[in-house]
Amino acid sequence: MADTTQKTGFYVARTDLEKCSVAEAAVPDMLEEGQALLKVERFAFTANNITYAAFGEAMRYWEFFPAPEGQGQIPVWGFAEVVTSRAEGAAPGERVYGYLPMSTHLVVEPVKADAAGFFDGAAHRRELPVIYNHYVRCATDPGYAAKTEELQMLFRPLFMTSWLINDLLEDNDFFDGKAVILSSASSKTAFGLAFLLKAGTGARVIGLTSGGNVEFVEGLGCYDQVLAYDDITTLDASEPAVFVDFAGSGPLRSALHHFFAENLKYSCSVGASHWDQPRGGEALPGAKPTLFFAPSQAQKRAKEWGTAGLMARFAADWAAFLGPVSSWISVIEGRGPTAVEAVYLATLAGKVPPHEGHILSLWD
Ligand SMILES: NC(=O)c1ccc[n+]([C@@H]2O[C@H](COP(=O)([O-])OP(=O)(O)OC[C@H]3O[C@@H](n4cnc5c(N)ncnc54)[C@H](OP(=O)(O)O)[C@@H]3O)[C@@H](O)[C@H]2O)c1
Repeated sequence: MADTTQKTGFYVARTDLEKCSVAEAAVPDMLEEGQALLKVERFAFTANNITYAAFGEAMRYWEFFPAPEGQGQIPVWGFAEVVTSRAEGAAPGERVYGYLPMSTHLVVEPVKADAAGFFDGAAHRRELPVIYNHYVRCATDPGYAAKTEELQMLFRPLFMTSWLINDLLEDNDFFDGKAVILSSASSKTAFGLAFLLKAGTGARVIGLTSGGNVEFVEGLGCYDQVLAYDDITTLDASEPAVFVDFAGSGPLRSALHHFFAENLKYSCSVGASHWDQPRGGEALPGAKPTLFFAPSQAQKRAKEWGTAGLMARFAADWAAFLGPVSSWISVIEGRGPTAVEAVYLATLAGKVPPHEGHILSLWD
């Protein structure tokens, strides 16, 4: 039985991500009418969560889980159990999957509940993107299986992004590009996209990565060509290309745009795994960098295919991805504040080898 009187939270300083701390606080001993208390069991932690922190202010990620002044609680994807409830949409003992704080507990206000799940209707979340407010019931989720929980936490939100980018590129005939170049090719979101691109017939798939990660990326077998960042001038600039940028490094983007110039047909900014590099922003040759906004492509397809049609297509590709990905990644579980801090700092510093998939819990 979970301790429901104290919660342990992991916090970072908003303006200095290297400063982090663990704090205890009381869990409300009486829930208000309409509230439920979740025990946050475990969650995945990847560079994507660092991006949530690096863009916490600009993209409002800090607003999901309020923290003491000057600090932030980084959102993560994971599983939780309803411990106590005064809300109709959440019964004690139920297990859910969704967007959670790095904490042992979360109080939610379940609204719009149905067989599939519920939304957190807490006032501070109402204006935030709705996809982050939905909690899926494991008992009715067709994509849930106990044996793939770790892969679900690590990859499901990332692979949805990979899938929507692949769809955007296919939908636009690759913007007349013959090659798709991915930065941070060793990242989970990038190799999810490479997996989908390779399975299609559209374009050659080129991965750019750090020198030390070349071997890992080559071993995945879903890139046609893999290069270290320093070797981009060995690419064929006469081949029209598309750039999908997961690294977010200004100098890398600038070098690639200047190298391909007008042959860079589309430039898609997805992430900033190299979060501590200058971001750039100056006018560049080739296509103007466009921020990838997953909900736009999802909404377009939901209109064309219906939400069920969209989810059925995604589910088929997700099932195909689950096979190989389990051999690409070693899942490592860490429990307790010390383990959480160690993985957080290693991820922030870019020191987590790409074959590691970290699952964490603030419970010892
Ligand atoms: N816009 C969206 O909707 C969306 C959704 C999902 C993910 N993303 C973005 O995609 C990116 C990848 O996320 P992920 O969770 O898939 O990553 P991940 O699997 O944890 O990626 C790890 C890789 O990122 C690079 N990296 C990480 N930290 C670094 C650092 N401090 N310095 C230099 N390189 C670092 C390294 O790759 P290399 O050596 O290959 O560079 C590393 O192998 C993130 O920026 C994330 O925010 C965006």
